Amino acid sequence: MIRLFRTAALSVLLMLALAGCGGGDERAERLKAAGPHPSLDALMRVADPDEGARVFGHCLACHTIGKGELDRAGPNLHGIMGKAVAGGSDRYGYTVALSSVGGHWDRATMDRWLTSPQRFAPGTKMTFSGLADPLSRADVIAYLEREGQ
Ligand code: HEC
Repeated sequence: MIRLFRTAALSVLLMLALAGCGGGDERAERLKAAGPHPSLDALMRVADPDEGARVFGHCLACHTIGKGELDRAGPNLHGIMGKAVAGGSDRYGYTVALSSVGGHWDRATMDRWLTSPQRFAPGTKMTFSGLADPLSRADVIAYLEREGQ
């Protein structure tokens, strides 16, 4: 009887611990699943667009993402994945720094851009220092992909 009670108490404690631990552990689990020194592909397999939406809060000061929304200090980013670099918005005045880069926004180029806009396109007017965390970048890319659909 006592043993039964103890088992029940322990499982309640375990449930409380699991419920209370929130984002930090979930993040650690995702990183573990991605394996040691994860490639961008490995990170994309565990990327979470909802978490990307949260990180995108940093971008909202300068960017809209809804279809047909107006440009702000930066261009509208609806459906940006797959488009030409500096090709997201027809109405927007891009710098030569960015428009002379060429190519398309695939996952690898977006990852490099978001790591350091200034290194990707020296002289760009995107005055954002970049996202140092590789998993946060993968989350934002997953969000950009989802919002483009
Ligand atoms: C302080 C304002 C600002 C912030 C914050 C900012 N951006 Fe930008 N972004 C810009 C500007 C300005 C440009 C245009 C750059 C140019 O023409 O050199 C730009 C361009 C871009 C482009 C290129 C679009 C295209 O049409 O090729 C992408 C993608 C982008 N930003 C993504 C992001 C993301 C994702 C974040 C958040 C992690 C972010 N930006 C944060 C201002 C900002």
